[in-house]
Amino acid sequence: MDLGLSGRVAVVTGGSSGIGLATAQVLLAEGADVALCGRSPERLSAAGRELSDKHGKERVLATRCDVLSADDCKELAAAVSRWRGRCDLLVNNAGQARMSTFAETTDAAWMEELNLKFFSQIFPIRAFRALLEASDAPAIVGVNSLLAYQPEPHMVCTSAARAGVQNLLKSLAGELAPKIRVNSIVLGLVDSGQWRRRYESLGLSMSRADWLASVAKEKGIPLGRLGEPVEAARDRLSGLAGGELRHRRASRDFGRRLTLHMTRRDSRTAARMRSIRPSCARRTGIPAGCAGQYGPGCPHSRPAQAMHRDCAVRRGL
Ligand SMILES: NC(=O)c1ccc[n+]([C@@H]2O[C@H](COP(=O)([O-])OP(=O)(O)OC[C@H]3O[C@@H](n4cnc5c(N)ncnc54)[C@H](OP(=O)(O)O)[C@@H]3O)[C@@H](O)[C@H]2O)c1
Repeated sequence: MDLGLSGRVAVVTGGSSGIGLATAQVLLAEGADVALCGRSPERLSAAGRELSDKHGKERVLATRCDVLSADDCKELAAAVSRWRGRCDLLVNNAGQARMSTFAETTDAAWMEELNLKFFSQIFPIRAFRALLEASDAPAIVGVNSLLAYQPEPHMVCTSAARAGVQNLLKSLAGELAPKIRVNSIVLGLVDSGQWRRRYESLGLSMSRADWLASVAKEKGIPLGRLGEPVEAARDRLSGLAGGELRHRRASRDFGRRLTLHMTRRDSRTAARMRSIRPSCARRTGIPAGCAGQYGPGCPHSRPAQAMHRDCAVRRGL
């Protein structure tokens, strides 16, 4: 499967464990060079070694960075810039959930959780914005949770924060468009480092596999198991990040009433559409400069659709 990531440079925050590590694996397998970060130097170097052994040392940059430090994030962006001079994809994945009911959550815990969920998006995006803007196909993927829409009683604080992050990413999808594509990934339960830590902290006599099966049953997950990190990485993150889906972004991007977005690679089609683009853009509220977009109310919808079909046939889609 070619996701159009070959030669791209991706940054995965929290890439030293679980879903982030699996995402780095998938991105490397798809041909992107990957920079990853985390706080624990031991975890980070183990992950860096694992990735380098499999994909080549020169394609991996493992740098310590706490995403809750604006300075660390700026240093990470500077390191990536020195390393490859570019960044095409930022995956904001670092973080973990907090288990507590409303009654149990102290004010300090609320502050900590809101800080984690919001600033793990805000600081890296600020730090990488200039590099992303210099890319011809930049994208940000914010890893979020189903809790944003389905709060759990024992995760009140995390659920509320997740809903806020969803809102933030939706705003950014509008504000950073058309230059940077922003998507949020809403994950269900995925067996990862945080689930291992939870199991260990419970000191149960049952095996981890049995415990995870009981969690899946309790949550009513039809497959009877939690997702694997690589499933979350492959199916959700890489697909959204890759050029393969770029032309279909409208159906996935937040709230945008567009039906297609052509890639700059479709240069002939884009050139034909350039004459109609400014008026389409105005009607759909999209700033001009994007490589060809139209909306439902646009009088050019039909010709644009026809062009898109030609383009799709040419590309074997
Ligand atoms: N697993 C699930 O069921 C699930 C469901 C929905 C959403 N999510 C989200 O998916 C993301 C990945 O979690 P995971 O389940 O894969 O957990 P994980 O295995 O514990 O991985 C978390 C990663 O984030 C890093 N990290 C945490 N805080 C950080 C910080 N302040 N700065 C930099 N790195 C930091 C960790 O490394 P260090 O600790 O060394 O910094 C680690 O690499 C999280 O945002 C999580 O909330 C997970």
